[in-house]
Amino acid sequence: MITIRAPGKVILYGEHAVVYGEPALAMAINKYLYVTARARDDNKININARDLRLAGISVTISEGGDVVAKTDYGAVISALSYVKRAIELAMEYLDKKVGIDLEIRSEMPVGAGLGTSAAVAVATILAYAKELGYDIDKRELSRLAWQVEKDVQGSASPTDTTMATFGGIMYIKPEGNNTVMEPVKPGANVPLIIGYVPRISTTKDLVAMVRRKYEIMRNIIEPIIKSIGLITKKGREALEMGDLELMGTLMNINHGLLDALGVSTRQLNDMVYAARHAGALGSKLTGAGGGGCMIALSDRIEVEKAIELTGGSVLRAGLDTNGATIVSND
Ligand code: PMV
Repeated sequence: MITIRAPGKVILYGEHAVVYGEPALAMAINKYLYVTARARDDNKININARDLRLAGISVTISEGGDVVAKTDYGAVISALSYVKRAIELAMEYLDKKVGIDLEIRSEMPVGAGLGTSAAVAVATILAYAKELGYDIDKRELSRLAWQVEKDVQGSASPTDTTMATFGGIMYIKPEGNNTVMEPVKPGANVPLIIGYVPRISTTKDLVAMVRRKYEIMRNIIEPIIKSIGLITKKGREALEMGDLELMGTLMNINHGLLDALGVSTRQLNDMVYAARHAGALGSKLTGAGGGGCMIALSDRIEVEKAIELTGGSVLRAGLDTNGATIVSND
């Protein structure tokens, strides 16, 4: 039996602009998704994932080797799809198909933009491989997990799966079909408080909404996107210098521009402003927006309380530097 954990992530600067070739800065957080795997003697795959609302689901490997879910699970099907595809790709990659019991647990809210689906894909593939006695290179793991996201979602940037695999802080710059990812060394601890509310829009819809605006009024939207790119570059410098005050100021400007693009919501804005008024050095929505998460650069309890008073839930997070790792192996 083996337990693997993979971290979630937040985007410090650059979401949405990264879709237009501008850089983004993402940080893996010390909140984890855990997958425990135990090989079976038969061809059954049992998935127990209360935190993903997949309690007691059982799937079977068909004669052809596909992982077959026998029931229509309605709302949970999308979360299940990541686990199912991850197992299929791991089986294909290792050319080894055995039944397995999987238990999945999350310290993060699921579907809030913290990268839980990527963490599920990474941890499931690694747990399956390790439980069967195989090693898997991190670059291969990251590539396979990105494939899971692309297969399930139709399209996906490699940001979340890279962060869940490698951890740390990465400067991400799309270049044509390639994505350049440079690890960034922070000059200081980056204390983050994460506030979250339920999401009312999907990443896909929000990206499409920004795209429509871009097409209708490119001369207005393009400078906003370019400014966000400049903020990301400056934000990277501030982080490397350990200048938290400058980082906070840049977060505030970044949030204003995301709001201008139309991806913030009343609840996100309430949390963002409440955090600043309670003494955070800066705050912004993180991820695609439309509800979901915001980050505040602070470790103050007053900031947590202020976010909660607006109706948001709170998660305190620091940096994860390990990426996907083995937690226990009996
Ligand atoms: O919803 P999230 O946290 O995965 O963030 C999406 C980030 C976007 O820039 C909006 C989209 C993307 O693919 O980069």
